[in-house]
Amino acid sequence: MRALVTGGAGFIGGHLVEKLVERDWDVIVFDNFERASLETLRTLPSEAELRRIDIRDPEAMKRYAGDVDVIFHLAALTDVVESEVKKDEYWNVNVVGTENVLKIAKDVGAKLVFTSSAAVYGELNNVAREDLKPNPISFYGVTKLECEKLCMRYYEEYGIDIVVLRLFNVFGERAQGGVVKIFLERAREGKPLIIYGDGEAVRDFIYVGDVVDALIKAALSGKASGRILNIASGKPTRVRELAEAVVKETGVKIIYESERRWEIKFSLADISLAKKLLNWNPKIYLIDWIRSSLRSS
Ligand SMILES: NC(=O)c1ccc[n+]([C@@H]2O[C@H](COP(=O)([O-])OP(=O)(O)OC[C@H]3O[C@@H](n4cnc5c(N)ncnc54)[C@H](O)[C@@H]3O)[C@@H](O)[C@H]2O)c1
Repeated sequence: MRALVTGGAGFIGGHLVEKLVERDWDVIVFDNFERASLETLRTLPSEAELRRIDIRDPEAMKRYAGDVDVIFHLAALTDVVESEVKKDEYWNVNVVGTENVLKIAKDVGAKLVFTSSAAVYGELNNVAREDLKPNPISFYGVTKLECEKLCMRYYEEYGIDIVVLRLFNVFGERAQGGVVKIFLERAREGKPLIIYGDGEAVRDFIYVGDVVDALIKAALSGKASGRILNIASGKPTRVRELAEAVVKETGVKIIYESERRWEIKFSLADISLAKKLLNWNPKIYLIDWIRSSLRSS
């Protein structure tokens, strides 16, 4: 199998490339490296072909895509706060870039797996099922929702085999951001953990290895075509609980500061559809991973 991974030099993309190469796939990466992780670049397997290509440049993509069976489209700008001030750039990379990638999938007849985000739901009152009406509160979420619509249009109009995965909060080795990485880094430096708000905000954290597993299953399964699937643990974790798990291992303090804008207070997924259609199950639980990660460092 030959795969194209856009954003393959980023956090999740790097883990995906590693796993695909391990499984003997031929892998080509398109990344402009602007937000690539240095740690990921250092660990990317040499068997993968790396191309400095911007997804806003359709000609360059066409030149190098070749005969790929599957396109994993992960390249995106992902900072929720930044998305509010750089709307044009976020629109161009996330939405126009995704349409460029969809056109390549159409031209070469490849299957496409797209990574959307829980940000499309916005503020939730209850567990999110995929049929809930999306209501993004950030511009980042707006762009991801637009991408989902484009994916569904290409699926319906051109019969491209597409699966959309709505990822919740992804954690794991070589993460580039997110509360888990920040707490671990501060704790390792003996600094207090900062909680914005009262710490009661609920998140659904999913391990990067479990996400990679879902991405590959989505590529190989015929059952999820044209579907949107939540990829999460299905387990609620309060930010305070996460902080307390870190404190228990390291003894650092917690500081509370005022709540930030764009922060969602409740985010939790129903993952029964992904479990059923992909025959997928998350295996690593956040608090266990935190413990073992702090004990091994
Ligand atoms: N990490 C999470 O918690 C999370 C949650 C939900 C959804 N997602 C989605 O998963 C995907 C991967 O996320 P990540 O955490 O690995 O992000 P990341 O920022 O670590 O990686 C994104 C990669 O895309 C590349 N990129 C950005 N703009 C590009 C462009 N114009 N052309 C080519 N390459 C470009 C960057 O250089 C980077 O290597 C994204 O689509 C993101 O929206 C991530």
